[in-house]
Amino acid sequence: MALNNSAAAEPTTSIDRDEIVEGLTRPQKTLPSKYFYDHRGSELFERICRLEEYYPTDCEMEIMRENISEIADRLGTHIDLIEPGSGSSRKTRLLLDQIDRINRYLPVDISSEFLQRVANELKQEYPGLKVIPVTADYTQPFELPLDDSGARRIVYYPGSTIGNFTPDKAREFLKLLAEIIGRDGGVLIGVDLKKERSVLEAAYNDSEGVTAQFNKNLLLRLRNELKADLDPELFEHRAIYNSDEGRIEMHLVSREQQTIRIGDDRFSLEKGETIHTENSYKYSPEQFEKLVSGLYDIKQVWRDSRNYFSVQYLEPV
Ligand code: AVI
Repeated sequence: MALNNSAAAEPTTSIDRDEIVEGLTRPQKTLPSKYFYDHRGSELFERICRLEEYYPTDCEMEIMRENISEIADRLGTHIDLIEPGSGSSRKTRLLLDQIDRINRYLPVDISSEFLQRVANELKQEYPGLKVIPVTADYTQPFELPLDDSGARRIVYYPGSTIGNFTPDKAREFLKLLAEIIGRDGGVLIGVDLKKERSVLEAAYNDSEGVTAQFNKNLLLRLRNELKADLDPELFEHRAIYNSDEGRIEMHLVSREQQTIRIGDDRFSLEKGETIHTENSYKYSPEQFEKLVSGLYDIKQVWRDSRNYFSVQYLEPV
């Protein structure tokens, strides 16, 4: 699964028809959230991050700004900073600004062209920094270019993108990271916290309708890239907090009885039937501790002034 935790401005993952058909054949129809991020979707996501209602970005930036020297101390003085799903590396600049003893910065992303462009920009902004772009689907095991400097490996995974995995998959992914960083490494991760339903639902049902466009962008991609016969206007966006599962769910709700056609495949939807497009899990500090238990010790947790979001520093057990 390729996820973006910051705003890339490039198509990343081309659509796998079989995967789409498989999802639309399930009793609860689904479309994978990784397909949100084509060029338009990435731009929409960038707009989401600037919305008043979408608190995670501001909260995480506040945490990073307020605590940057403590965070830098935790990460150490001779490090390889690895960022899976780096996109535009926007949040990383706060770290790069502060830590003058980064040995190498290794952004990992599936879109090699975009990665190269961001790497070139960073090299100009930080002339002394070694930027080594790694093109890979970071949710699968990937190799990092070796060096013999003995630098600690630190993974930076901001944005609470971990919440877009189911807890089982999140644990699998965190296990993979532990293998990549080795026993001496560390992980700096953004984790969105549980909070009142009204705040959560407002963040995913913004008043300007940007999240609705972001959600419906999946339908545009099906139409443009798979020549699906469908009308996006016949769907509406819905985001609800499922408190039993502890997650925001995004759905596309069919406004009427209709049939989507993709080549010879047909998928009929009743009026009110939904296609589930994304999960965004929210964790209490205890739940996140449980999620990582046996894999990592949580060494420090920083929170914003509203207690909405956390940045956590983990070390492998
Ligand atoms: C990328 N990810 C952490 C976002 C989230 O909040 O789950 C994606 C998003 N979906 C709707 N708005 C933002």
